[in-house]
Amino acid sequence: MAKQDDLFKNVVSHAKEYGFIFPSSEIYDGLSAVYDYAQNGVELKKNIREYWWKSMVQMHENIVGIDAAIFMHPTTWKASGHVDAFNDPLIDNKDSKRRYRADVLIEDYAEKLNQKAQKEIDKARERFGDAFDEAQFVATNARVIEYRSRQREILERMARSLETENLADVKALIEELEIACPESGSKNWTEVRQFNLMFGTKLGASADSAMDLYLRPETAQGIFVNFLNVQKTGRMKIPFGIAQTGKAFRNEIVARQFIFRMREFEQMEMQFFVRPGEEMKYYEYWKETRLKWHLSLGLGKENYRFHDHEKLAHYANAAADIEFNFPFGFKELEGIHSRTDFDLKAHESHSGKKLQYFDNETNSSYVPYVVETSVGLDRMFLAVFSKALREETLEDGSTRTVLKLPSVLAPTKAAVLPLVKKDGLPEVARNIIDDLKWDFNVSYDEKDAVGRRYRRQDALGTPFCITVDHQTLEDQTVTIRHRDSMKQDRVKISELRGIISEEVSMRNWLMKM
Ligand code: GAP
Repeated sequence: MAKQDDLFKNVVSHAKEYGFIFPSSEIYDGLSAVYDYAQNGVELKKNIREYWWKSMVQMHENIVGIDAAIFMHPTTWKASGHVDAFNDPLIDNKDSKRRYRADVLIEDYAEKLNQKAQKEIDKARERFGDAFDEAQFVATNARVIEYRSRQREILERMARSLETENLADVKALIEELEIACPESGSKNWTEVRQFNLMFGTKLGASADSAMDLYLRPETAQGIFVNFLNVQKTGRMKIPFGIAQTGKAFRNEIVARQFIFRMREFEQMEMQFFVRPGEEMKYYEYWKETRLKWHLSLGLGKENYRFHDHEKLAHYANAAADIEFNFPFGFKELEGIHSRTDFDLKAHESHSGKKLQYFDNETNSSYVPYVVETSVGLDRMFLAVFSKALREETLEDGSTRTVLKLPSVLAPTKAAVLPLVKKDGLPEVARNIIDDLKWDFNVSYDEKDAVGRRYRRQDALGTPFCITVDHQTLEDQTVTIRHRDSMKQDRVKISELRGIISEEVSMRNWLMKM
């Protein structure tokens, strides 16, 4: 655990020191769970957004994008169920005065049982080596069976209690499991209460005429209310999707873990409209497709897993998370939800407008079913950034900090470095920049010894360093250094564009899907 904590601390401090993420309004001591993206962070975030947009919108003939407003008519949130049901079950510890999500306390407890089972499996694998049959071991080992069935029982009971709003039983479960406040160790808990997560605001100048609004807690509703507009103007045929990226706001009570859980964050969502009865086929398709997208970034297959929901949201008939192995363990990165026709039907009944599709093939009108994919952009950032950050010991015993970002996402693709600040080398370097900047985000650096400049670019995640030296003046060649291997090649200036492009082009990365 200590190791995990250290890794996470390094992630937070590296993000600040190298201009990726700053605490919001830091000169006033910051604002809890709100962060600003800095000069390098904004580039990484933009590249992740673009990587998502290209794979969803540009690569799918039947998916189009929109950019709906953050403010929406307040009835939207009544219809969507957010006014009545977008709550977190909260519990306070009377001694430490800390507030927690009751479901998270129970889930964390259940996860510990899962980890214990996993430990048994790992030990057995080590003992039996190649002869180890994991499926058989899991099915027959008494301890694993006990841990897993205990975990299942706990989660099922919690799901039932939350479903039926039996908050007294949620508290009883916490007490039976003897869950203690992680801060103080105290087991002196209050009752469990529901707390709505939407931020309210007002539209209008005078107090009498002002209209109560909410800041959107998800981008999805902007898509639902525009469903028919897009379908008609885009002449879209079912199945088709509408994608959107944008800010969402939630008054998270337990906002913590840096940019993992924020009060203002960005989502990348896509609603896929299908014929009723076909939703499970597309639900499976999108689960698989979205996992492939994540895997294409090369952060390691072992760092992802699916978690099928026991407790379904009020709108879903199936739901799964893609979980990622963050520095603090496996947690939700993306949700894939089969939302039925809940949202469109609710908007039909609250607005009195038909939101139906006429299907030429079946010669009938219906309210489509929806499969949604929803990933947090900030969580994607944290996933990529935390896996990329490494401390490496080199052959000569020295160490380097390197941010091994997927090069397609790196904020700066190449840094151009004149070996010395004289003899015409800076001018040549600037000419290279002037040429490359049309295609790539590139930077210039002439400060400090070249070795230190390499280290700085490693820490920023820049895939290439291009060094201009005296030989360049004679034969128009430079050295190009690769971030990950630290290998250096001598190449012609005219070859640079091709080499960089081959490594960073979205086309090449997306082709891995
Ligand atoms: N439209 C469906 C929806 O909003 P969700 O599971 O509540 O579903 C989807 O959110 C994704 O948004 C999550 O998987 C997560 O990546 C991201 N997300 C949700 N709440 C967040 C928060 N407070 N801070 C950062 N990201 C968040």
